[in-house]
Amino acid sequence: MNKLLFSFICLLLYNYISPSYSLPLCTDLRAPFISKKALAFCPYNGRVCCDSSKDVQLQKAFEGMKISDTTCSSAVKSILCSTCDQFSAELYKVKSGPRPVPVLCNSTDASANSFCSSVWDSCQNIPITNSPFAPSLQTKAGGAKNSNSSLLTDFWQSKADFCEAFGGNSDKDSICFNGEQVSLKKNETLQTPNGMCFEKIADGAYLNMVSHPDGSNRAFFSNQAGKIWLASIPDQDSGESMGLDESSPFADLTDEVYLDARYGMMGMAFHPNFAKNGRFFASYNCDKAKSPSCAGRCACNSDVGCDPSKINSDDNKQPCQYHSVVAEFSANGTAPDPSLAKKVKPSEVRRIFTMGLPFTANHGGQILFGPEDGYLYFMMGDGGSKGDSFNFAQNKKSLLGKIMRVDIDNIPSQEEISDLGHWGNYSVPRDNPYSQDKDLQPEIWALGLRDPWRCSFDSERPSYFICADVGQDQYEEVDIITKGGNYGWSMYEGPLRFKNASADDFMDPIFPVLGYRHSDINKEVGSAAISGGYVYRSKTDPCIYGSYLYGDLYAKNFWAAQENPYNSGNFTARGISFRCAHDSPLNCSSVPNSPLPALGYIFSFGQDNRKDTYVLTSTGVYRVVRPSRCNYTCSMEIARTAESPSPSAPSDGHVAKADLCSVLVLYCLLLLTSFIL
Ligand SMILES: *[C@@H]1O[C@H](CO)[C@@H](O)[C@H](O)[C@H]1NC(C)=O
Ligand SMILES: *[C@@H]1O[C@H](CO)[C@@H](O)[C@H](O)[C@H]1NC(C)=O
Ligand SMILES: *[C@@H]1O[C@H](CO)[C@@H](O)[C@H](O)[C@H]1NC(C)=O
Ligand SMILES: *[C@@H]1O[C@H](CO)[C@@H](O)[C@H](O)[C@H]1NC(C)=O
Ligand SMILES: *[C@@H]1O[C@H](CO)[C@@H](O)[C@H](O)[C@H]1NC(C)=O
Ligand SMILES: *[C@@H]1O[C@H](CO)[C@@H](O)[C@H](O)[C@H]1NC(C)=O
Ligand SMILES: *[C@@H]1O[C@H](CO)[C@@H](O)[C@H](O)[C@H]1NC(C)=O
Ligand SMILES: *[C@@H]1O[C@H](CO)[C@@H](O)[C@H](O)[C@H]1NC(C)=O
Ligand SMILES: *[C@@H]1O[C@H](CO)[C@@H](O)[C@H](O)[C@H]1NC(C)=O
Repeated sequence: MNKLLFSFICLLLYNYISPSYSLPLCTDLRAPFISKKALAFCPYNGRVCCDSSKDVQLQKAFEGMKISDTTCSSAVKSILCSTCDQFSAELYKVKSGPRPVPVLCNSTDASANSFCSSVWDSCQNIPITNSPFAPSLQTKAGGAKNSNSSLLTDFWQSKADFCEAFGGNSDKDSICFNGEQVSLKKNETLQTPNGMCFEKIADGAYLNMVSHPDGSNRAFFSNQAGKIWLASIPDQDSGESMGLDESSPFADLTDEVYLDARYGMMGMAFHPNFAKNGRFFASYNCDKAKSPSCAGRCACNSDVGCDPSKINSDDNKQPCQYHSVVAEFSANGTAPDPSLAKKVKPSEVRRIFTMGLPFTANHGGQILFGPEDGYLYFMMGDGGSKGDSFNFAQNKKSLLGKIMRVDIDNIPSQEEISDLGHWGNYSVPRDNPYSQDKDLQPEIWALGLRDPWRCSFDSERPSYFICADVGQDQYEEVDIITKGGNYGWSMYEGPLRFKNASADDFMDPIFPVLGYRHSDINKEVGSAAISGGYVYRSKTDPCIYGSYLYGDLYAKNFWAAQENPYNSGNFTARGISFRCAHDSPLNCSSVPNSPLPALGYIFSFGQDNRKDTYVLTSTGVYRVVRPSRCNYTCSMEIARTAESPSPSAPSDGHVAKADLCSVLVLYCLLLLTSFIL
């Protein structure tokens, strides 16, 4: 056995188990953009990852390779240009590499003529200066040591060797490069679900549901006033309602929270390692006049061209009387370990964030840990002046109208924090889009939002970070949030032009993937506000599996959006009808013999550790259940049998996969080091 073979096995294992960026994303992890004119060198247009200067750079690199043979040179050119492909992050496996060349399509059938095989055939004996096909990890084999010009055969013994290293296949979760712009296969057989079946498992109006990070089938619920409850979730088909004791909250923050129609406790998040460290976070509004700790900088300030003494707040209150706060609490000390805690003393451990709000509306407030990076995402609206009159959402010196991303695991000293001018106790991840620019707010992850109301990560594809953004006069939208993405408000409301660009540096926005006009929904309602949900990933209703579910607060409509082709970001929504199961544990309806649930307002959605999906409304908690319980037919529904109850301890595929991955990577590193030494 030689070192190379071992490293290849490791490379192979690593590629096999590393998660993919299924979403169209560039190698810098930003969203592709629409190029205004075709590139001069690389044959890419439409949604691309290269601008003209990158195109020129690629041309120079290509010319520097001095490839004499035309077949080989056109293959190598296509390989270089693949970095312009809208799927380049995935082609180059950025997450586990990146690699010097994309994954070259390789047929498992040795006789088939795959792209990898044809690259080998046309280039094996052609000298390439600064060859991208040199092995990068290993000490170079053969006679290539001091020459910049090399043959494939200098590095690789055979085609099989070469394709072992650079080849790969296209399947549901990964894609490979075949010499041309990647095109995904459309699914011709997508089924339309017949309807969504609910059961009601709790009364009471909750704004948030967060599953317990320990993986048990429990979840936290919070209301707008500031109470958090820990509830046990009944099994599907058990006929039981939710175990939640209103009189015994897990934590009661009502003394800190300012409650009004538009204020209150808006979000909560539990540290991914909560079961060990007991850390949890609440996002709420406070009143400076009532609470001494409710004192932060005003979001209306001279940096953003806003003079607090000159603005008229809607209710004649001083601007920045009300604040948006994220505070950290601890579940330590009440039980032998935080997982067992049923009730905690809510004394604030640390203030993560405090910012004065200039107006009374649109201050989002959801907080969420990124499933892969572990950073805290914080959704903030534009502050609520009509039409965002100060253009806060487009201003990178303002945190209004943004999605922020901060690190709460590495907290600098108080001195450093005041030097850095942060709004609280956190550090800024180095790969935030504006982290290096002192003049911009480094907390920003994405901008141009009006009032992001409910975001979620697809539990099977974490690169899908999906947010609903509430519109103003005409359009409600759903966006896939990417690094540095500008979602247009208030230059655009959804896809519609709202204002003419004032700022010189205004970039093309990323348009919504889904949305609806106010005029498209129930006219009698007179109002619209989107409420973002989840990509449904439970096996309970296989007919909506993989669909993104969302609703409208007022219209009481639901939509199920299917993506076609899979991994393209091309979603199509359909209104989905819904009923209440005849055997719902709590009576769903307010009318005798009516199958329609009395939903009230749709506030939020939730997902438990088994990926079952919930709707939180002003009248209670509704769970999506087997369609047959509402007499909807879904041919893929798994018939209920006594021997197959839902599993009591969910085995989290991602955790298992991640563990396996780290063990294997460690093993490979050990092997590598032992061979190098
Ligand atoms: C590429 O295909 C060859 C056979 O055609 C196979 O031996 C090799 O393992 C494949 N490599 C990868 C990475 O799939
Ligand atoms: C090889 O690389 C060195 C430095 O990287 C450069 O100075 C030299 O001109 C190159 N030789 C050829 C033949 O390209
Ligand atoms: C295509 O749709 C069918 C039916 O919904 C589904 O079973 C299949 O997995 C889908 N295929 C892909 C590639 O998404
Ligand atoms: C809670 O307990 C964990 C584990 O012992 C510890 O690391 C953490 O610092 C404690 N937090 C507080 C606020 O005491
Ligand atoms: C950091 O947290 C401490 C403790 O809660 C608090 O006193 C301090 O004001 C916070 N710093 C900032 C900038 O919010
Ligand atoms: C934007 O400017 C154009 C040309 O000046 C004008 O016709 C259009 O009405 C403006 N649109 C808005 C929304 O102000
Ligand atoms: C997007 O999806 C719709 C519905 O499935 C389909 O008709 C359309 O062709 C897709 N668009 C692209 C660019 O694939
Ligand atoms: C549900 O409640 C409504 C209103 O209270 C009542 O009219 C109806 O009969 C109830 N349905 C059932 C099945 O109990
Ligand atoms: C579904 O059918 C069953 C019996 O066939 C009936 O008792 C029940 O009321 C129906 N439920 C709904 C929601 O239509």
